[in-house]
This record gives sequence, C-alpha cells and structure tokens, in this order.
Amino acid sequence: MNKLILYCRIGFEKEVAAEISDKAAERGIFGFARVTDNAGYVVFECYQTGEADRLAREIPFNQLIFARQLIVVSDLLTDLSPQDRISPIIAQYQQLNETIKLRQSSEVRVETADTNEAKELSAFCRKFTVPLRNALKNQGWLKEREGQKCGLTLHIFFIRSNACYVGYSYNDNHSAHFMGIPRLKFPPEAPSRSTLKLEEAILTFIPREEESRRFNDTMSGVDLGACPGGWTYQLVKRGVFVYAVDHGKMAASLHETGRIEHCSEDGFKFQPPKRSKIDWLVCDMVEQPSRIAALICKWLVNGWCRETIFNLKLPMKKRYAEVRQCLQYLEDNLQKQGLNFQIQAKHLYHDREEITVHIRIKN
Ligand SMILES: C[S@@+](CC[C@H](N)C(=O)[O-])C[C@H]1O[C@@H](n2cnc3c(N)ncnc32)[C@H](O)[C@@H]1O
Repeated sequence: MNKLILYCRIGFEKEVAAEISDKAAERGIFGFARVTDNAGYVVFECYQTGEADRLAREIPFNQLIFARQLIVVSDLLTDLSPQDRISPIIAQYQQLNETIKLRQSSEVRVETADTNEAKELSAFCRKFTVPLRNALKNQGWLKEREGQKCGLTLHIFFIRSNACYVGYSYNDNHSAHFMGIPRLKFPPEAPSRSTLKLEEAILTFIPREEESRRFNDTMSGVDLGACPGGWTYQLVKRGVFVYAVDHGKMAASLHETGRIEHCSEDGFKFQPPKRSKIDWLVCDMVEQPSRIAALICKWLVNGWCRETIFNLKLPMKKRYAEVRQCLQYLEDNLQKQGLNFQIQAKHLYHDREEITVHIRIKN
C-alpha cells in the first residue's frame, strides 16, 4: 500500500494535491498526486512502499487544510463481480494484515466521493456495509470498540459500483466522520444557514471537553459582519455576550435574548468598547483575504481578543498560494510580538469558496 487518498470538496483537488505534496516533501517523502478535476478526491502515490503509511501517521490531520479525510490504500480493485465483491476486498486486507495488525481496527466505512455521481452509489454502500462488516469480523478483525482513539478504521472507497480502493486510516489522526463530513442539523431558530459554518468550526477546532470553559456566560465576543446573525446565534447559545458589528439588520430573535448589542459600524474601524474585555472575535465579512488577515492580526497584537474564528474568502485563482501567504503573514507577525499561539485552518464542509481559521493566544 503506497498510496494515500485524500477526500475534498469538488473543485479543490488541485489545492489538496499542492498541500499533500508540500507536507510529504517536508518529511523527505516524494511522490506524485493524481488529480482528476471535480473528482472530490486526490490520490497521492509515494515512490517507496511504507511511505504512505508513514505520511498517514506523521502529517497531523488537523494541519491539512483542504483534505476532509486521509486514508492509506492499495491499488484500485476493478471489475468487481456483483455476485462477490467481498472476496477480493478480504484478499487485499489479508495482504495488508501481514504488516498492519487489523485486529486493532474498530470500524469499517464504505464510502464514496462527495459528488453527485458518486452519491448514486451511496445506497449501495450502505447495503454493502453489513455483509462486509460480518466478513471482516469472521477474519478476526474489527476487534476494538468503535470510536476508540487508538487503532484503525477500515475504509472501502467506491469510485464505481465495480471499482474500489481498500484502505485504512489511523483513529488518532483522521476525521472521525463518515466521508469526513460532520452531519449537523440546521437549528430552525437560527437567523441564517451560515450558522452551521461557525458550529462546524467550533466542533472542529475546540475539543468537546473544553467547550464550556472556552465559551460561557462570563464572556464577551465581537462578531464583525454579523448580520443577520447566524454566527452571533452560536455565541449567544453558548452564553457569550456579543457586540454585533454590521450596517445591516440583526434578527429580532437575537435582540430579544438581551445578550447582544448591535453596533452599526464598519468592521475595519470598530474597536472593542472601553473597559470591556473581549474573549472572542469572529468575522465573516466578505473581503479580500489579505485585508481580513491584517485586521485579525491587529486585534490579536493589540490584545483586543484572546481567541478568534474567521473566514478567508478565497480568490478564483491561486487559492492555495493565497491561503499560505495569509497564514504565513499571521504567524510571522504574531511571532514577532512574542505571542504564544495556536493556529488551525480548515476548509470545512459548510465552507464553499472560503476556509475557516482559528487562532488562540496561549499564556
Ligand atoms: C456573509 S454575511 C455574514 C453572515 C453572518 N455571519 C451570519 O451568520 O448571519 C457578511 C456580512 O458582512 C457585512 N459586512 C461586509 N463588509 C463589512 C464591513 N466593512 N463592516 C461591517 N460589516 C460588513 C455585510 O453587511 C454582511 O451582512
């Protein structure tokens, strides 16, 4: 098994390819990315055996921006017979079991790319999961309890009903979600659908066990570009008092909570109200990414907030280069100020032509 498959939103295959090639090269591992436009995934083939496995363990999954999932796979299995797709899959895993102990696997996911064509396969994938799981259990695999932090998840990635990749991911270095997509339910009382972006960002960047410490009713936040209030809603829901900055109108339901103050101002000029301590800054203004990066940097360097989640809207071209440049700018400037910080960025499922960034200043 010397290949990786990285899942992504359709149209972002080139960004994934550039990112994985960079991350592999940083570790002295070389290979080539096979990119098919709008496939919803990228195959990265390493020149040496064992190196795909090394990358799947060593590249921290949370440092990959554009990949939704990272799995190690063998060669594509083709011409699978509708009468028996299971035997060739088991045969592949038997080979794999010589190097990777499948006893440690906890779960099997039968997946496809997130494209309209591939979605037609999803009913088949669901049906196929049960017999496949039984066959894997008969081999003595899938021993660990589901959701275990250590161990492996087995992935079968179908690209057609008669062709699939067979592989695995490391539970401590992958997306815990089926197809790498967190399934969130739109809260009907939220003022806009973009509320799901901030909800997914919080789920992705803030460990569950820390959520009530990192967001609570002793805190204040600022939401730049807040209207109609989907992001503010997420903060208020977690107890945070919000200064909502936007010339537009905020949803009445948010005013009724008594937990917001609407500031009809320019987000680039707004400063935290005197004598108020701001814990959180969030920002969803549609602007050039470099302008947003500079604005966020100003807030952090001035000590106006300790933690921030914001979007960088991506340009049409050179999206990966632009993202690298903005993140580098932020890192360089925060370092120059001697700040100890953590930075994470992700192309979330609910993001379209944008990525979401989280920065936390640590003591
Ligand atoms: C994508 S919408 C925000 C949606 C919001 N996050 C939500 O969940 O409902 C972008 C908002 O940014 C605001 N905006 C754009 N430029 C701004 C600026 N310079 N100052 C304040 N608000 C701005 C727009 O008025 C718009 O309401």
